[in-house]
Order: sequence, then C-alpha cells, then structure tokens
Amino acid sequence: MDPPLALAPMAEVTDTYYRSLIKELGGAGLVVSEFISAEGLTRKNTRSHVMLAYSEAERPVSFQIYGGDPDRMDEAAAIVEGEGADIVDINMGCPVKKIVNSGAGSALLKDFDRAAEVVEKIKRRVSIPVTVKVRKGWESDDVIPLLKRFEEIGVAAIAIHGRTRNEAYSGASDWAYIAAVKRELGIPLFGNGDVKSAADALRMFEETRCDGVMIGRAALHNPFIFRDIQATVNGAAVTDEAERRITAMQKYLSKIDGAPQPDKWKLHKARTVIGWFSKGIANGKLLRQGLADINAVSEVQHLLDQARAIPALS
Ligand SMILES: Cc1cc2nc3c(=O)[nH]c(=O)nc-3n(C[C@H](O)[C@H](O)[C@H](O)COP(=O)(O)O)c2cc1C
Repeated sequence: MDPPLALAPMAEVTDTYYRSLIKELGGAGLVVSEFISAEGLTRKNTRSHVMLAYSEAERPVSFQIYGGDPDRMDEAAAIVEGEGADIVDINMGCPVKKIVNSGAGSALLKDFDRAAEVVEKIKRRVSIPVTVKVRKGWESDDVIPLLKRFEEIGVAAIAIHGRTRNEAYSGASDWAYIAAVKRELGIPLFGNGDVKSAADALRMFEETRCDGVMIGRAALHNPFIFRDIQATVNGAAVTDEAERRITAMQKYLSKIDGAPQPDKWKLHKARTVIGWFSKGIANGKLLRQGLADINAVSEVQHLLDQARAIPALS
C-alpha cells in the first residue's frame, strides 16, 4: 500500500470485526489488534484467547501483546505465532495506571534494560517479524537510545506516538520528535498521533519523513480515512457523504452478525460503532436515538433502512 498506512491498536475497538471492516473499506495496509494480556494468554484466560480471532482478509495479521514479565511475554509471543499471526507487536505505550503498575505498557520506558530483555527474548523465540509501539518517553522525550537497541536486536519496525506517558492524551503529538527518531533509525518508522484528515497525514509524512502513518481515533469517526488519504495522494476528489457511512455501518453489522458472542454484546457493539460512524451525518441523531430504544441487534437493520429512506432533517 503506498503510502503505507496502519490502523492503530485500540483496546475494545480493533477486534477482528473492526479490523476486517477497515481492511475491506480500503487504504490501510496494516490493521493492528487491541492489546492482549500476556498473563491472560499464558494462563489460558478465555477472554484473552477470544481476542486471537482473525480473518484471512486481515493479513498481515498483527497481534499486540502487553506485559511486564519477559518470560511471560516470550510465551505469549509464541502463542501468537502458533495461532498463525504474521507479526507480533509489543505494547510499550499504554499509560493506564493499572497496566503500568504491573510493569507493563509504557512502564517499560522507565527501564530500558527490561524493555530490551523483553524484545530480545521474543526476537529469539519467534520467527515472525517483531514490532514495538512506544511513546516518546515516560516523562520526557528520551526513547531514542532504547529504539537504537531495538534496531540492533532486529526489530522489524517501530510505531511511535509523540506523547510521553505522563501526557497521556493531553497537548499535541510531538511530530518534531518523531522526525528526530526517523533521522536516528534505519528500520521503518510509523508516526502516530493526532492525524485527523488526509491533509494531516500528508503533513506528517512531509514533516517527519516517517515511512508510514498510523491512525487511531480519527478512524472511529471516519473509517474511510485511509481510503481518503490514498485518494488524496492520487489526486482524486473525496466526499464524505452519508450514504457511504451507512454502507460502512451495514458492513459492520453483517460482520458482528456472524460472531459467536451473545446478542447483548452485538447490540452493544452496534450501538457503539454506529454511534461513531453516524456523527455529523444527516439523520445521524435520529439513528442514535433509535439505537437507544431497541432491544435486539436484529432491529438495527431497520433503523439503517430508515436513515437511508427518510429525507435528511438537517
Ligand atoms: C480507545 C483507545 C484504545 C487504545 N488502545 C491501545 C492499545 O490497546 N494498544 C496501543 O498500543 N495503543 C492503544 N491506544 C493508543 C492508540 O493506538 C494511539 O497511539 C493514540 O490514540 C494516538 O493516535 P491517534 O491520535 O491517531 O488516536 C488506544 C487509544 C484509544 C483512543
């Protein structure tokens, strides 16, 4: 895919249904799973194992794992490889207290030796490519020496969110730092943070010289953002009309319809995802109100048909 674009890993969002939808809508070469607990995988926790579901259409399949214990991470990576994944991605960016208190996520950015040990062990254990997703540091922008170690160990690519752990989601992603990382590293680098439009993506490529752009939150409201970026690069016009949003909702609905999860889960997912996709479209509010009133996922299709049929109220 040129330019290389990736859907960022997002907990409770980028499950197999969401990933395959984004892949199907086009423009994204790589779609990364939500983070999966290495503890959960190695202790045979059902919820963690359910997260290993994927469809062939998603390939290359990239599963992200998190954990603070190098031995468990190593075991978890082997499980991921055994499931047929193409890439194992290591989470070193999660800022959530509960996660960092267990030594996982961005806590690894406080202990370069342990972070390198995790990566080294996994690299020795699996034969699929190993990638790492980081922030620019724990409390200051100091991750470059660690990334150089990762490069020496043989990591295939890095994704960097240009905020520190302490910044969580405040302020802005520091693209100048991403540019500095790019100058120091030889392996492919995905820039991440605050890309909300095709114009932003092009600007990130230009300002950072990164090899790929990774997008998270903007894909929740516009699942076509990857396709829009490719179209913009090719000089094609982009119009974000309601019809294509409803088509995306429909496709998502048919994906979760076949899921083994209970109806309650499906209704919750339909409400959440259609809630995002309907933001800003004509009849979007009506659709969301309808979703709040229904009791079964089987009723969602009728609401989508209605949203299509009723002349736009706004
Ligand atoms: C709901 C949500 C869940 C996330 N879960 C993960 C995760 O599981 N693993 C991870 O590495 N990053 C996770 N992130 C961070 C994103 O991958 C990304 O780095 C961040 O949102 C910045 O990119 P954006 O501005 O394009 O959203 C999550 C972000 C959000 C909003």
